[in-house]
Amino acid sequence: MKEVCIIGLGYIGLPTAAMFATHGVKVKGVDVKQEICDTINGGQIHIEEPYLADLVKQSVLKGMICCSTKVESTEAYIIAVPTPITSDKKADLSYVVSAGEKVAKVLQKGDLVILESTVSPRCTIDVLRPVLEKSGLIAGEDFYLAHCPERVLPGQIIYELEHNNRVIGGINDESAEKAKDLYSTFVKGEIYVTDTITAELCKLMENTYRDVNIALANELAKICEKLGCNAWDVIKYANKHPRVNLHTPGPGVGGHCLAVDPWFIVEATEGIAQIIDLSRKTNDSMPSYVAEKISALVPEKAKIVILGCTYKPDVDDMRESPIMELVHHIKDQYMVQIVDPFIEEFDKNIYEVSNDADLIILGVHHKKFKDVSFEVLAKIMKKPVLLDTRNFFNKEKVEKFGFAYHLIGCAR
Ligand SMILES: NC(=O)c1ccc[n+]([C@@H]2O[C@H](COP(=O)([O-])OP(=O)(O)OC[C@H]3O[C@@H](n4cnc5c(N)ncnc54)[C@H](O)[C@@H]3O)[C@@H](O)[C@H]2O)c1
Repeated sequence: MKEVCIIGLGYIGLPTAAMFATHGVKVKGVDVKQEICDTINGGQIHIEEPYLADLVKQSVLKGMICCSTKVESTEAYIIAVPTPITSDKKADLSYVVSAGEKVAKVLQKGDLVILESTVSPRCTIDVLRPVLEKSGLIAGEDFYLAHCPERVLPGQIIYELEHNNRVIGGINDESAEKAKDLYSTFVKGEIYVTDTITAELCKLMENTYRDVNIALANELAKICEKLGCNAWDVIKYANKHPRVNLHTPGPGVGGHCLAVDPWFIVEATEGIAQIIDLSRKTNDSMPSYVAEKISALVPEKAKIVILGCTYKPDVDDMRESPIMELVHHIKDQYMVQIVDPFIEEFDKNIYEVSNDADLIILGVHHKKFKDVSFEVLAKIMKKPVLLDTRNFFNKEKVEKFGFAYHLIGCAR
């Protein structure tokens, strides 16, 4: 294929565009935001991702990427628009529908449409297909339709786009093979072909698997606090078993994948996905569980400093951050300060902020926090108390400076 249209030029769409463009496939990029199109057409990028800026710049200079807000006719369309959840935990597929409507207007016989967004089970055939068939063409007969979910990790997207294995689900075998041919332009990993529902569930279950396992660890943390032992020791010793891999507890689960995707399965299966549902609720309960622990450690109006507020360590992404949920729970009761070197608003000097503090909470285990001096903190805090939600700091080292050290999942 010589040309592809990529709809949605965010964290997934733009790197994918850059990969096609650098492998000889011309990209017509489409985004609803004019400023994003202008930025890319000017050879710049609007997101942070290593190596991406150079790839985009070179591709634009060579005329291999050109963006606009309008979908124009071509041979293949890849839809990479957002698929968030609503406040009542339902999949918001409106972006997929809107992108599909634009494609339907220009779709022609023999074209290929690929849905790359993470979607609810059956979305490709039950939601996108009818939208595309408004063109008067029939999926599987007149045009090819496939789902090709994305597995990349932000921070290493360029490497993973090329090297990850992929699963492609086609509405029929020809659609899956057509999509496989297209991705083979740059993918060096294995490409497995299947049907669309299998591919959709595959993507959702990858994140659900992790969410459920973290929920198990969070439940273990609560169990151990109740029973008077240390969950981290239980995990350490249980994982000496050759077939056990318990995950680790924490203040909750955030991000745009683990905290979102399992809800798609719950919504689509009407009461069947009970373990998945309970796991989501267990992980969502952790910020209030941490809030309860705080109330046992310090009185109302105490000054609390929270280290880290992103959804995971060493990134600048706060989407669905459980720490911000914790802040929401405690902000009216305490004086809360946040320190996070990855977020401009909270990039503060920890020692200035901690003056007279009653409690420090380690919320996110950014590597940069390893250098924190508890010797200095012990001198400037009103009372040196530390609540570690990630087992990040060394208990003995911290206690050496007079700190009272509390660890989530540990009764001792
Ligand atoms: N970011 C990740 O690490 C990651 C990983 C795996 C899967 N995914 C999935 O990939 C999909 C895209 O995620 P993302 O992180 O790239 O989102 P994003 O928000 O970074 O980018 C989406 C882009 O689509 C544009 N857009 C929205 N509606 C549009 C429309 N109708 N027509 C054209 N453009 C439109 C937005 O303006 C935005 O620029 C989601 O389903 C997400 O769950 C993301």
